[in-house]
Amino acid sequence: MSEPFVQARPEGWTNPLRDPRDKRLPRIAGPCGLVIFGVTGDLARKKLMPAVYDLANRGLLPPGFGLTGFARRDWENEDFGKVVYDAVRENARTPFRQAVWDRLAEGIRFVQGSFDDDEAFDRLCDTVHELDAERGTNGNHAFYLSIPPGAFPVVCKQLARSGLAGQDHPGQWRRVVIEKPFGHDLASAQELNAIVNDVFPEESVFRIDHYLGKETVQNILALRFANQLFEPIWNANYVDHVQITMAEDIGLGGRAGYYDGIGAARDVIQNHLLQLLALTAMEEPVSFSPGELRTEKIKVLSSAKLVQPLDETTARGQYTAGWQGNEWVVGLKEEEGYNPESRTETFAAITVEVDTRRWAGVPFYLRTGKRLGRRVTEIAVVFKRAPHLPFDETMTEELGQNALVIRVQPDEGVTMRFGSKVPGSTMEVRDVTMDFGYGLAFTEDSPEAYERLILDVLLGEPSLFPVNAEVERSWRILDPVLERWAESGVPEPYAAGSWGPKGADAMMARTGRTWRRP
Ligand code: BG6
Repeated sequence: MSEPFVQARPEGWTNPLRDPRDKRLPRIAGPCGLVIFGVTGDLARKKLMPAVYDLANRGLLPPGFGLTGFARRDWENEDFGKVVYDAVRENARTPFRQAVWDRLAEGIRFVQGSFDDDEAFDRLCDTVHELDAERGTNGNHAFYLSIPPGAFPVVCKQLARSGLAGQDHPGQWRRVVIEKPFGHDLASAQELNAIVNDVFPEESVFRIDHYLGKETVQNILALRFANQLFEPIWNANYVDHVQITMAEDIGLGGRAGYYDGIGAARDVIQNHLLQLLALTAMEEPVSFSPGELRTEKIKVLSSAKLVQPLDETTARGQYTAGWQGNEWVVGLKEEEGYNPESRTETFAAITVEVDTRRWAGVPFYLRTGKRLGRRVTEIAVVFKRAPHLPFDETMTEELGQNALVIRVQPDEGVTMRFGSKVPGSTMEVRDVTMDFGYGLAFTEDSPEAYERLILDVLLGEPSLFPVNAEVERSWRILDPVLERWAESGVPEPYAAGSWGPKGADAMMARTGRTWRRP
């Protein structure tokens, strides 16, 4: 097996085999370092550190890359190196190669301290400068805040105070990466954005919505704008409704600290599902430049309205004990760390309409839940019935509505559902499906969302990161639902392993529709 290209390169070196105009070649990050706050957390161990290694393994990081961890633990560089090593061995996507690891390990540093400790941030500043001198990171650094949002203000202030937030010399860059939740409602999001923007200009802020890093999510744009087939029917004249589902089979054991009091709507609808809605409903951008893309997404989020009355067009639930496959699992209230009186919803569904000429009157149903029948994320565009069916009624009993289903995960691809003649002497018509599967059509494995997003941060490529206006508009859509839920009732119970509460079915039934069973 050939070694990826990770040898040190002389200054000013360019790869003669790479034509910078050839957009098919992945761009390699220039000299830089990444500082991760929250290295002892799950996200860092399962996603961030493995993604850094995978990027190095693919030859997409600079040879002198620096990876610094900041945490309270009493660790030396070597201890943190061991933590990264274990995370890589356990969770990396690409094969382990000793030479790649050795090169990466040379750039690993650890700074011990708490967020309110000025001296610790001064030490971090020294470490970053040492990396510049020893590894050639050239003053270019990204700070990844994989920490509770309550700690964002203090860390941002510390980065500003210690001089880490600003460049030492013109041409260098400093960027901050923040993980959701971006606030818990519009007001808190605005407050948070103000604090972050006070220290980092908006173009240096990279908000992670990891769904945007998924290949299948980016494929929504390819499917819509690279083809002639779909565009003419992608509107209210032909589309009956759209269902966007993000279902998970896992429960919430071990996540009480983050999840209790947050719930499914804030955790998933506010970010992932509204972004999927924006990509599905947006107009063709003038180009795929970050600004043009964002303009179109913001237009959708600005014209999206909740369908009223909320008591009938939304649903929420909380899982109770039940059979998840072959396993008997407990309900949320019995999970470790949860308030036994918890009113946190683990299932949420809302109905949104996009008030534009293209979409007027087409409901977009968004649902998400934990401990549902299976793990699946999909966008189903369901078309109106043909205006006339020249068949005997009994011959079309098994003919549903045409649908185009974008399968985001796990079985990535696209399904088209349409009616077809059943073989035989009668003209019976029944639904069939036609499938495109990534696994079959392409030999390349899809990179993990975090690989793509971390690389984009280091490249300064902001297309896949929501800006403050998108975050705020998403809260503006969701806030009335959260307020209504806070003032009325409690989430409806649903058994683990089922497809959610009865209220979710009732919400569809009132317009004569049903949820797909993905
Ligand atoms: C996160 C949510 O953003 O996405 C989690 O906070 C959820 O609750 C996760 O489990 C799901 O991500 P994926 O990529 O596995 O669908």
